[in-house]
Amino acid sequence: MPSFLFVCVTCAQVVGVVMLVLLGYWTGNILGGFAWDGSSQEFNLHPLLMVIGLVYMYGQAIMVFRVFNKESKIVIKTMHLLTQIFGFICACIGLKAVFRNHNVNGIANMYSIHSWAGIVVFTLFTCQLLFGFLFFFFPKASESLRKSYLVVHRFFGIAIFVGAIAVACMGLLEKLGFQYPNDAEEPYSTLPTGAMIGNFLGLMICLFGGLVAFIVTHSDFKRVDEPVDEEVRPLTSSTSEMKAYQASEAAADTEQQ
Ligand code: HEM
Repeated sequence: MPSFLFVCVTCAQVVGVVMLVLLGYWTGNILGGFAWDGSSQEFNLHPLLMVIGLVYMYGQAIMVFRVFNKESKIVIKTMHLLTQIFGFICACIGLKAVFRNHNVNGIANMYSIHSWAGIVVFTLFTCQLLFGFLFFFFPKASESLRKSYLVVHRFFGIAIFVGAIAVACMGLLEKLGFQYPNDAEEPYSTLPTGAMIGNFLGLMICLFGGLVAFIVTHSDFKRVDEPVDEEVRPLTSSTSEMKAYQASEAAADTEQQ
């Protein structure tokens, strides 16, 4: 029977894929596709890349410690770092796209609660990535410092992720308001198809976030760390001694079988 962890992770991955499909269809089709020319098509890169970077990739990065809980720590740490670097690059391009779109069209920058909260979340995400690298990858921080910082890192990891979900939903609502204004043929309140897909996208973003948060905070799914990663071997530099040791180990193994 599949474990509860397996069921939860599968649900998160299925919801994640549905979220990406809706996101791609909404931005690529309903909002009119993509370009890099200052137009509204350039704006469309903003929701696409922000959700891929700060929701999907970030969610995957958080889950790796639960999904691959049998792999060696350095492998998982590297996956955790690389997925977040990819998410960071997506978010940088997504932000560049919206600022460029505003500047080209003479639209004011940073006037909405979405943009204020968005910049806070992005800044915290960047700091988290930087400090995480310095504390856990750079071999300078002492063991006790790492332990103390891990508590902060865990808290902010979830807090920033929840923040990113909230900011994405605020952005969605704002865009739906711009796309289907009250004086349009099809205002938002008449729930045109594009708005319905936008609403579903928001639901999928929240559901994905909820599943990821459940998986990473559920105590049964926590990784149990082995005190020693490596196999215990006698300390010897001599090849003949090592060969003799390996032969004795092999003999012991055959006896046990
Ligand atoms: C977590 C992900 C997101 C972050 C961090 C974020 C951040 C930002 C920031 C900083 C701005 C200000 C740009 C400027 O003033 O020139 C902005 C603008 C905007 N974003 Fe997002 N965004 C995110 C996701 C989304 C999503 C999913 C949508 C949905 C369409 C969206 C829609 C908008 C809209 C309509 C604007 C222009 C209006 C405004 O400045 O509020 N955003 N975003």
